[in-house]
Amino acid sequence: MASGSGLRKSLAMRFDDELRFFKGWIDKPKAVGSIVPTSSITAKRMASVANPASGLPVLELGPGTGVVTRAILARGIAPQNLYAVEYSAEFAEHVRRIYPGVNVIQGDAFDLDRTLGEFANLKFDCAISAVPLLNFPTSKRVDYINGVLDRLPVGRPVIQITYGPLSPVPARRGEYTVEHFDFVIRNIPPAQLWIYRRVGNA
Ligand SMILES: C[S@@+](CC[C@H](N)C(=O)[O-])C[C@H]1O[C@@H](n2cnc3c(N)ncnc32)[C@H](O)[C@@H]1O
Repeated sequence: MASGSGLRKSLAMRFDDELRFFKGWIDKPKAVGSIVPTSSITAKRMASVANPASGLPVLELGPGTGVVTRAILARGIAPQNLYAVEYSAEFAEHVRRIYPGVNVIQGDAFDLDRTLGEFANLKFDCAISAVPLLNFPTSKRVDYINGVLDRLPVGRPVIQITYGPLSPVPARRGEYTVEHFDFVIRNIPPAQLWIYRRVGNA
């Protein structure tokens, strides 16, 4: 059980995250998407798709306050093997500060070639995305998933969090598969997790 001061510290950190998140939402509601950070349960489910034994780096998209980043590191991915792309300069700086060694890249996850720069040719084990796709047109969401899948070995997952009942990215025959992974009720709002994978001969 946590000691009194340990509990106070973790509550203070959580409050700090929520405040930071809310401020981000006030500044840019469309880019931030949700008004409360992802729950640790959801973050752990998302991170569970990473395979530390692959030796490949992991790509995180839209780390925000770093809740999912923390779960990916806890999964056994070394900080230097994690690449986190965040659009907001403030969130990027925050994640850089609390997780030294993680490769935090400030930029647009919809334009990965430019954003990843010298890392644009890396192959990743998987991608873990919290970018609020529903705020963008469907054609842009499809291009996004294809752009991310191009950086993964065939069959490895892109996991995406969303709050609507349907996959935010429609199925495209032959290009990728769409799989419902989980519905996490202990998240505000309750979250749906979807997985996309490139199929064998695509
Ligand atoms: C729903 S929030 C992420 C929540 C994060 N898991 C947390 O709990 O703090 C979405 C995040 O995606 C980021 N984002 C939005 N559009 C983006 C883009 N085009 N490229 C990269 N990050 C983006 C936002 O700045 C925000 O940090």
